[in-house]
Amino acid sequence: MGPIGVFDSGYGGLTILKDLRKKLPAYDFLYLGDNARAPYGTRSYDIVYEFTLEAVKELFNRGCELVVVACNTASAKALRTIQQNDLPKIDSQKRVLGVIRPSSEIIGQFTQNNHIGILATPGTVNSDSYLLEINKSSPQCSVYQHACPMWVPLIENNEYDTPAGKEFIQKDVVSLLEQNKRIDTILLGCTHYPVLKEYIESIVPENIEVIAQGEIVANSLADYLLRHPWMDSKCTKNGTVHYLTTESTVEFNKNASTYIGESIHSEHIKLS
Ligand code: DGL
Repeated sequence: MGPIGVFDSGYGGLTILKDLRKKLPAYDFLYLGDNARAPYGTRSYDIVYEFTLEAVKELFNRGCELVVVACNTASAKALRTIQQNDLPKIDSQKRVLGVIRPSSEIIGQFTQNNHIGILATPGTVNSDSYLLEINKSSPQCSVYQHACPMWVPLIENNEYDTPAGKEFIQKDVVSLLEQNKRIDTILLGCTHYPVLKEYIESIVPENIEVIAQGEIVANSLADYLLRHPWMDSKCTKNGTVHYLTTESTVEFNKNASTYIGESIHSEHIKLS
């Protein structure tokens, strides 16, 4: 038995963790941010796969039976290989879930006119994972994607609220909306982006709904645990959360606290 592992390249997964804890307050969580090697969004398939597998193995070694890859880039580039090739070799009773499928399955319910925009990292956009997954669950929807290579570095370095940061963000949002004026729903397809949600809402037309993934992923995980009682019984439930980072704990504690809204005492680890 063990906590539910939550992994991201850096701080982004904290936006998911926050909603997981709200939805599943009794459960224990172990968060791992690979801040030393973030961002992943512009890295190759091989590297994202290698880093993600290392992180998943670390969380397994620390007792997690279930890991949520709370990173779209890693979900797009590594999740399927880990699920299909690595898990059977590591431990066929453990599970790894991602964030792209649950978000894709529900996003069609938000749009009024079937025009959906996706803002994500270059890695996620180039994988076409959202196009493929949304096409499966909502084939009537047209999907428009735009990659925002600067957003994760701006967020990881706390520069997103500066005039230069805002200019980058605005330029990317405009580029997405220029693809089709009818887009009425924007999915923030990167777990770092919810910190920009309010700003994005302030610059898009009022009829556009901006959707973050946290609540969607939390509902999906709660549903998964209900449907898989054998896994649910392996998840410890003392309401605790512990944080691991590959970077400086001082930096992580300071920055992560702003996402989570409470003080954090993280532990430094090395991944390999
Ligand atoms: N939070 C990750 C995602 O959802 C960011 C990836 C990165 O490090 O660029 O895609």
